[in-house]
Amino acid sequence: MWKSMKLFTIIIIVLFLQQHVALSSSSTPNHLSHSTQKLALYQFKTSLMINTSFTKYCFTPYPKTMNWSMSSDCCMWEGVTCNQVTRDVIGLDLSCSQLVGTILPNSTLFQLSHLQSLNLSRNDLCGVLPEDIFHLPNLQKFRLTFNSHLTVTLPKVKWGSSGSLQNLFLRYVSLNGGIPDSVGYLESLRSLSLRACNISGPIPISMGNLTQLHELDLGSNHIIGQIPMSMGNLTQLTDFDLRSNQITGQIPNSLANLQNLKVLSLGQNNLIGQFPSWVGNLRQLVNLFLSSNSFTGSLPSNVTALSFPRLATLDLSYNMLNGTIPSWLFDHSIEGLYIGSNGFTGKLNEFDSSRSALESFSCSQNLLSGTIPQSFYEPVNLSDLDFSSNNFSGVFDVEKLSHLEHLYGLALSNNSLSVRYTHSTTLSPDIGYLGLSSCKITKFPHFIKGSSFLGYLDLSNNQIDEEIPQWNASTSLESLGLYYLDLSNNQIYGEIPQWIESMLQTSLEYLNLSHNSLTGGFQYLSAENIHSLDLHSNMLNGSLPASICNSSFLHILNLSYNNFSGVLPTCPRSVNNILSVLDLRMNNITGSLPSALPNFRELRTLNLNSNKLEGTIPVSFAKFSYLEVLDIGSNQIHDTFPHCLESLPTLQVLVLKSNKFHGFISNDTKIEHPFPSLRIIDLSCNEFSGLLPEKYIKNFNAMMNGDVTKVQLNYMGDSSYSDSITVVIKGVEIELVRILTVFTTIDLSRNKFEGEIPEYIGNLKSLRYLNLSHNHLSGQIPHSIGELLLLESLDLSFNQLTGVIPPQLTCIYFLSRLNLSSNNLSGRIPQGPQFQTFENDSYAGNLGLCGSPLSKKCITETQVGKNEEEIEEDDDHFFCGFSWKSLVIGYCCGVVPGFVVGYMMFMAGKLKWFTRVIARGLGLKVRRLEIRRR
Ligand SMILES: *[C@@H]1O[C@H](CO)[C@@H](O)[C@H](O)[C@H]1NC(C)=O
Ligand SMILES: *[C@@H]1O[C@H](CO)[C@@H](O)[C@H](O)[C@H]1NC(C)=O
Ligand SMILES: *[C@@H]1O[C@H](CO)[C@@H](O)[C@H](O)[C@H]1NC(C)=O
Ligand SMILES: *[C@@H]1O[C@H](CO)[C@@H](O)[C@H](O)[C@H]1NC(C)=O
Ligand SMILES: *[C@@H]1O[C@H](CO)[C@@H](O)[C@H](O)[C@H]1NC(C)=O
Ligand SMILES: *[C@@H]1O[C@H](CO)[C@@H](O)[C@H](O)[C@H]1NC(C)=O
Repeated sequence: MWKSMKLFTIIIIVLFLQQHVALSSSSTPNHLSHSTQKLALYQFKTSLMINTSFTKYCFTPYPKTMNWSMSSDCCMWEGVTCNQVTRDVIGLDLSCSQLVGTILPNSTLFQLSHLQSLNLSRNDLCGVLPEDIFHLPNLQKFRLTFNSHLTVTLPKVKWGSSGSLQNLFLRYVSLNGGIPDSVGYLESLRSLSLRACNISGPIPISMGNLTQLHELDLGSNHIIGQIPMSMGNLTQLTDFDLRSNQITGQIPNSLANLQNLKVLSLGQNNLIGQFPSWVGNLRQLVNLFLSSNSFTGSLPSNVTALSFPRLATLDLSYNMLNGTIPSWLFDHSIEGLYIGSNGFTGKLNEFDSSRSALESFSCSQNLLSGTIPQSFYEPVNLSDLDFSSNNFSGVFDVEKLSHLEHLYGLALSNNSLSVRYTHSTTLSPDIGYLGLSSCKITKFPHFIKGSSFLGYLDLSNNQIDEEIPQWNASTSLESLGLYYLDLSNNQIYGEIPQWIESMLQTSLEYLNLSHNSLTGGFQYLSAENIHSLDLHSNMLNGSLPASICNSSFLHILNLSYNNFSGVLPTCPRSVNNILSVLDLRMNNITGSLPSALPNFRELRTLNLNSNKLEGTIPVSFAKFSYLEVLDIGSNQIHDTFPHCLESLPTLQVLVLKSNKFHGFISNDTKIEHPFPSLRIIDLSCNEFSGLLPEKYIKNFNAMMNGDVTKVQLNYMGDSSYSDSITVVIKGVEIELVRILTVFTTIDLSRNKFEGEIPEYIGNLKSLRYLNLSHNHLSGQIPHSIGELLLLESLDLSFNQLTGVIPPQLTCIYFLSRLNLSSNNLSGRIPQGPQFQTFENDSYAGNLGLCGSPLSKKCITETQVGKNEEEIEEDDDHFFCGFSWKSLVIGYCCGVVPGFVVGYMMFMAGKLKWFTRVIARGLGLKVRRLEIRRR
């Protein structure tokens, strides 16, 4: 054995010498000897460090350079490949090698001029990669993915490797300076991936020179501008991915030349224009992703199945497409069809299901109507069907889906559908997702049960009066089971069956049974997987489930609008609880607020409104680091103002109304910026006394940013839970089913506040509602209120305010509710466009007021006459700068955000036809409840 080894070594040495001699005699000036290359490699190794604890991005990270030794042949080193004849180092693969450090411009790596393939992916290289790498004259393949601390700049002028480079993969590094024009020189390039490289700037036109390109991936960057026309020259292209960028304009027609295209992925951009019907001529096309753009118009009806012989996935969701759904969409090759969140109308047609390959279909959130075609029950490979949030009517027969072995998701929610099923109905054991909200269901559909782990089911204590269903024989214990179940807004009565509670122990992550007629108690056991549990608006009673404390994945618990009683849980601090929403409002919960409540460290919303809680607010509430909404209104809390809350950094909504709070709100807070995020504060109907809380009003920073035009309209909460509160405007209680993040209100009404309204209230530039009514306020109305240009409702009634109404108030063009009644105001009511919409009752009970709309005439007016009045009105226009009409037009053109004018109009009842649209968009539900006057 030793002998043969020796012989082998000798042969190698001989070979080496031969080549060395042969090559050096004919060598080019920059040819390096084998030993120089070895030394260069070794020095490159030593210039970087190895961090064996860096294990990101790799399954089996391993330091390949660790065993490189000068005493062995570098062609034997791990990761090194040599040309078998010349012995030149032609390949270096150091991916997943735990390399850490910076490659400097003097790195010996750049001496390896024979390198054809270089892979440094999935290490932790940092700093700036020298451009020299792109001048290696023979480099064909270069991979440098997942080095998230590395910055790469592509050569601006010429690439040394332009004639040879075929594959360039630079995912998840930072590409500095965008894609240069010089990329057009890489004539041999076949694959280019610059995914997630933080690229900004446009795609250079010269990219169209890369006529050998097969794969181009520029996804997940910040690329702007249009897709260049020249891309139509890339006729070899099979995969073209531009998703998740900011590309604008239309898709150029030149892409119709890309006859080899298999995947075209343009989703999540800002593309406009019509559906590109020429894609029908791309005969190789398999996947077409156009979702989340702004495509408009209808789909072409004359594209035939023949034009798309291979199309398997078509994603058009989240666009603005309209018209009807053409039947070619269902033709034989399409497996995944996603057209949700558009404006499609009309009926879905029957299609030839025997020729259909359909597996997954979603048309949710459109305006489709009619019955759901029978053809949808047929395709044997169906796995997902989502018809939710349309206007479908008629009966959906779940029974007919029994034969589908792979059915995984079914969503029928929010239509006018009825669901038909029988006792023997079973669904595939794979079923994981069931959305059956608003389906007129009256009993728990037991076909769901087939999907759970049989082993855990215990039917012994079952309250259901139905037959025990026949289990689907193929129900397997490995089945993951149902994880999403939405049966909300149905007419289900009776108790929650035990098998639902059992599913909570096994598979369910999301359960929504809200808005039914459920009775009885609810004691879910140690629910292991549940993330979101929504049982609100039922008739459940009994004590709160004790296991709240042990539910380690529970994120949202909504038991509001029920009849739960008992006390709040006191969870030990050690419990690792991630509860983010606890909504128990409108129940019958008694006792005091436990000081251990902040042990729910992640709590974002705590809503305990309308219960029977007593006692005080524990000082420990200052420990809620993430609390955004605290609503303890309508209880029997007997306390002074909870100053401990002023340090909560994220508190946005504080509702203490209708309790027994009393005493002064002290001004000597210890904190420089109390309540930094507060936007909504409601202290109404308590017994607070003394001066208005000056220091707080001065510091409500979140109400001072008046520039709403730059604010995105968002709602608080997420898809599983929307925060909501009720506000009272002129005696009408309005439920804001969702709270816009630009909504701001101060309601201190019905207390015993006294003294003057502070002038600096005018600093709260983004305030929309101000209610100080039913207090003992005196002095004049500060002129600065006229600076609250977004104010929509102002109620100062039932105080002892004196003096004139400041004319500045006429400048508040959004003001649609004004109540100054029952004060001691005097003088002439100022006139202005907006003020003309207010009627007598806005001013009643102020004996000194005169002028329109009151019948009492002012002395000056009768003396001076009509002329003067006209001039005055013009002055008002001049003074305030813009008029009501321009706002309406502004809204229609989308200039002014919908909230402002829309909501104002809604409140003012000016344009009835607006109301429904706007109110729905804003999540408003008006409850015409006149609240009782005290
Ligand atoms: C490369 O340059 C750095 C300083 O820029 C120096 O510290 C290092 O020794 C140089 N390495 C070689 C191999 O010359
Ligand atoms: C791209 O091709 C055009 C036309 O063939 C040529 O004029 C231009 O110089 C090329 N650009 C680059 C960067 O190669
Ligand atoms: C590339 O495309 C542009 C625009 O479509 C065209 O003007 C140009 O001639 C094409 N270049 C080549 C080399 O085909
Ligand atoms: C469909 O019709 C439109 C106009 O009616 C036409 O421009 C388009 O080329 C047609 N598409 C096909 C694939 O026939
Ligand atoms: C579709 O929307 C466009 C505007 O994008 C509109 O002009 C057209 O009338 C709409 N068509 C249908 C059928 O609703
Ligand atoms: C609330 O609970 C108490 C007992 O804690 C009970 O006496 C009362 O009837 C309950 N109220 C309602 C409305 O159910």
